[in-house]
Formats: sequence, structure tokens, C-alpha cells
Amino acid sequence: MDVFSTPAHFQPLNSLLNGDSSKPKLRNVRSSIPSSLPGPLLHAAPSKSRLSSSSPVSVASPLEPAIDVAAGEEKFDWYSQWYPVMPVCDLDKREPHAKQVLGMDVVVWWDRNENAWKVFDDMCPHRLAPLSEGRIDPSGRLQCAYHGWCFDGNGNCKLIPQSPLDGPSRDREGGIPLDFTLKKLGIEGFDAELEFGYCKYQAPCILSIHADVDSPSKGRRRMTLTFMCVPVSPGNSRLIWAFPRNFDIWIDKVVPRWMIHVANNLVLDSDLYLLHIEERKIKEIGSKNWQRACFLPCKSDALVVGYRRWFNKYADGEVDWRGRFSGDLPPTPPREQLMDRSCSRAYKSLNAMATVLEVVAIGLIGVVAAATKQGAVSAAGRTRLAILGSVCYAVSRWLAHFVQKYFRYHGYNHSVPDKAMVFVQMFRLGVAP
Ligand code: FES
Repeated sequence: MDVFSTPAHFQPLNSLLNGDSSKPKLRNVRSSIPSSLPGPLLHAAPSKSRLSSSSPVSVASPLEPAIDVAAGEEKFDWYSQWYPVMPVCDLDKREPHAKQVLGMDVVVWWDRNENAWKVFDDMCPHRLAPLSEGRIDPSGRLQCAYHGWCFDGNGNCKLIPQSPLDGPSRDREGGIPLDFTLKKLGIEGFDAELEFGYCKYQAPCILSIHADVDSPSKGRRRMTLTFMCVPVSPGNSRLIWAFPRNFDIWIDKVVPRWMIHVANNLVLDSDLYLLHIEERKIKEIGSKNWQRACFLPCKSDALVVGYRRWFNKYADGEVDWRGRFSGDLPPTPPREQLMDRSCSRAYKSLNAMATVLEVVAIGLIGVVAAATKQGAVSAAGRTRLAILGSVCYAVSRWLAHFVQKYFRYHGYNHSVPDKAMVFVQMFRLGVAP
């Protein structure tokens, strides 16, 4: 049975709804709760609810024992109670867990430095990504999957990779902090400078990053990365992007388009769920209050700050749907549906190929069985057919797995390194939009 200690800043659950925006809000675990309870608990202050002896009203029914009910104004406070979250035996200490209590999202994680389970609001104070999508870092802290901020068991932020004081030269996936400086901001958008180029936001949906780098061996390399993000309906947008450049353009001619899409999806989809949740959190607190909820101390966030300022100042914090929608976000679909990429032609072709290979494999095994019975084919021939059938079957299974993972649903468990992500996450720390 685990025994939990009470951190010094133990607060009632309802008081945690407001507070220091630079820390994740802490839902504390139990201290003086009877030790027979099996797992981490959401904090509750000692119950203020009690039965009063003043002005008793007798309630009697043939089915219930007679009790006295106070006629006073007291009301039960659901947010000043303890709630068990999960049995400890069902929790894995190696990763954070998302749970919900009273409609609130919390993250439960094992703090090995304090030997205790911790329960925080499931919302990173940086840009509101769910901390439960993160990981336990090598020092035993809770690390956000989005930009890598790390928190100790008291909710103190111990590492900001984008900060010049903390920042690694490269993170584990090759990302580096980027130094943006916001320049002119007006109704048409804004400009920003960065070390090796500049950036332009053209309202409402075009963002371009221009870079100009001198390479001693390859001369002057120029490139522009342009994102066009089209508002489709509340909660949905369409991303179109282009990468014009004056080098390595042969890649576009040689590599099939679907392969480039698969690589892009690895980057975009790994952030998709985080952004989906962030959008809902910002909606909940109100677009105009985002700066009170988010803590953005680094220059890497300058583009986000610029966009939010533009959005609130010139668009009143919302897209003008001209009454086509209520403005409410649609309910969150299951993750498999959210990440479904089944629309591409390559998906259909590869899927068809996997099915054909499976049918061929079954056919070949059938032929071998029939030939064995009738003695129609030599033993060596039957062996060759059986091997061919097995290979077809193995390839069809591998193809089906590939299609499922890269076209339908990639789970993105951020608590373990994904090797496929290493080459595509170069911009995570600095420019994740
Ligand atoms: S580090 Fe958590 S949202 Fe950025």
C-alpha cells in the first residue's frame, strides 16, 4: 500500500481553478486519508458539509429510517472532497496517465524523486498541451511532449529547452530553439525576423518563412516554407504547404508524392492531437484570455504571440462564419478517426496490393494441399510453392501493418522515442505552430 505525503502548497480542488499560470496546477494526492484506500486521490479539503442540529426537519418514510435534515443554507461542495483516481496496481510508473474526474482532465504520474504519485491538471502552462501525452524524462520529471518543458513533483518548471539558459543545442529529435523577433503588426498580418531570414504572416491564413544560408561547398541556398491554413468549419482546417528552394529539387522528381505525404504526416500528426486539445482548452477559457492561461517567456513563441494578438485585435478572437455554424466545436472523435488518413490513392492501391497478396498466398497453400493429395507436383515443386505462399502472406501482413500505421492511424506514444520521427522533427522546439 502506498502512503502519500502532502506537499507544502496543498490547496482545495476548487482553489486550483485559478492560480500561477507558469505552473501546472497541482491536484494533490492524499495524506491523511485512511490507508485502506488503494490509489492516488484528487485532493479534497476536509468536508465542510455536516448535519446541523438547528431547526431539524424530520423526514420519515416507511422505506427509510427517520433522519434529521438541516433546514439551513449549507450546500455540498463537490470540489472540496477526495476522489480515488485509479488503483495503483493498474498504473504504470514509466508513463503519465490521462484520467478524468468530475469532467476535469488530470494527469497521474509517478514522481520517483519523491516516491509518490502526483496528480496535476492535464494542461501544460506553456501552450496548454495535455501533459498526459508527454513522458517521464531521465531525471524523473514530467515532460510535456509538445516543446519539452519539464516539471518536478511540486509543479515547478525545471527545464525550458527554448530558453537560452536551459536550451540544449539540439533536443533528442534534432530540434533547436529559434530566435524570432516580432516586427510590424497590422490588420494585414505581421512580419518577424529570425537569425537566418524572415517570416511573414499574411492574414488570415498564409505563413511564410524565408531563409537564406551561405554554404561554403554549395553556394547560396535559398528556401521558403509556406503554410496555407484554410478554415473549413469549427474545429476543422485544411493545410496546404509548399517548399520552393534552389537546391535538392531532384528529390521532388524522384520520390513519389505519397511518400512525401507519409513523411509530412509523421510531423503534422504527431502534433495533431496536442493541437486538437489545445484548441478546446483555449475555447474553454476564451480566446481573449489565452495570455492569462499560457505562459510564453521565450522568443521561439513570437509567431504564436503575433498571431494571437492579430486574431484578438483585428478578428475579435473568432472566425466570422456568417451564421453558418453555432461556433461550438464538434465533439472529439475517437483518436483512430481523428488521425485517419484513408483518403489518398496510395492508401487504396497499397491496401488492394495487400489483399491481392493475401489471396495469392491462400491460393498457393490450397494448390500445395491439393497437389500433395493427388501427387500431381514433385516434392521440390510443392516446397517452392509453399515458400512462395508464405512469402506472399508475410509481405501482405507487413503491407497491411504499414498501411495501418502510416495511412490510417499512428498512435504517437510520446513517452517512448519514435525512430521514424527523428528525421522529421527538426522544427519542433522552435516553430511548431
Ligand atoms: S511545452 Fe507544453 S505546450 Fe509547450
